[in-house]
Amino acid sequence: MRSKLVYIILFLFLSVLIFNSFIDDNPYFKITSDDVILTIPKGFPKPKYNFKNNTITPEKFVLGRKLFYDPILSKDSSMSCASCHQRIAAFAHIDHALSHGINGLIGKRNVMPLQNLIWKDAYMWDGGVNNLEVQPINPITNAVEMNETLSNVVNKLKHNKVYAEEFKKAFNDTIINSERLLKTLAQFTGLMISSNSRYDKFVEGTIQFSDTEMNGLKIFKTKCANCHKGTLFTDNSYRNNGIKPDTSLKDKGRETITNNPEDNNTFQVPSLRNVEMTYPYMHDGRFRNLQQVLNHYSNPKNFDKNYDLSLNKIGVLSEQEKGDVIAFLKTLTDKVFLYDRRFADPNMK
Ligand code: HEC
Ligand code: HEC
Repeated sequence: MRSKLVYIILFLFLSVLIFNSFIDDNPYFKITSDDVILTIPKGFPKPKYNFKNNTITPEKFVLGRKLFYDPILSKDSSMSCASCHQRIAAFAHIDHALSHGINGLIGKRNVMPLQNLIWKDAYMWDGGVNNLEVQPINPITNAVEMNETLSNVVNKLKHNKVYAEEFKKAFNDTIINSERLLKTLAQFTGLMISSNSRYDKFVEGTIQFSDTEMNGLKIFKTKCANCHKGTLFTDNSYRNNGIKPDTSLKDKGRETITNNPEDNNTFQVPSLRNVEMTYPYMHDGRFRNLQQVLNHYSNPKNFDKNYDLSLNKIGVLSEQEKGDVIAFLKTLTDKVFLYDRRFADPNMK
């Protein structure tokens, strides 16, 4: 009886010890200087965003991560960046076709994944934002997203003891301003790099593709890659890929930015990296799965009248060919990125 009690006490003691060690210094969430080294993956072009004026440090990255996961950025503290950008979906949003913001308000567009952002200089489906650092102003101030003002966010951060401490750690002084807020967010999102998919290993020559995947790649190269081009799977152009506009959304696409009627219903060619995880698809999330996407591309009779003529190369695909392309697209899933602990929610600890 006594010895049983001793065991129970010992067990409880050890449990508390182990539990505490997790709370205090869980290595899963710890960011070291090795974690914030920017390495350009082999075969990737030169990034367009330059960290030269935003030197990455572990403390700034950690601050950016905290902000990304903190609903303090929204008016009623209900929405964080991560409410819409879910890690497991390569930071897109699984299930919602259109983004859901503050007070249950529904936006006009599908949430985009966040990956390889430093290779872009035009963000959003219409390319309306040209700098990674200013990009968060959009969701923070958008009435159907976070509905807040930058100055109010900065005020809230100034009155928050934890943030006072975190900003001091990151910048060695007590100044909290919007520039610092935006720069640290850019460090966190800018390091979200996906370059470790099976496709990348295939290109390196370290793994082989199945016959199905090989055939899918072949079809993809001749029929899809003139738009979904190169190692980033986009040529960064704006195109009409044949989907007819959803008139209820009144979304003019790229025309919203250029006012050029020729750009009507064109959208930025999205990267297809991690596409298996970023459903639903297209700027309005109209397709729930890749089969529906392939059915669309394979049905020219149903294309919008102003469709991009390079779609003519696709023609009608057999079920077998569609399946092969889908098998290839799934090789773009990058589990190293999806499970990268550096981007995990630090509040889980
Ligand atoms: C209410 C949902 C919502 C919230 C909250 C939100 N986003 Fe987004 N995000 C979107 C949508 C929708 C798009 C595409 C918008 C468009 O094309 O008009 C997007 C696009 C982006 C892009 C552009 C990606 C690309 O490849 O062009 C970045 C970067 C981004 N968001 C970062 C953030 C950050 C950082 C925050 C927090 C400050 C944030 N988002 C908060 C829904 C949201
Ligand atoms: C003419 C250029 C072009 C060609 C060719 C093309 N696409 Fe696209 N693709 C786009 C554009 C533009 C979009 C975004 C359209 C939108 O949302 O309105 C897109 C969207 C997608 C999406 C959805 C991605 C997401 O994140 O929502 C997938 C998947 C896709 N394309 C696969 C393919 C495949 C597979 C092929 C070949 C069979 C192909 N595309 C050929 C331009 C093209």
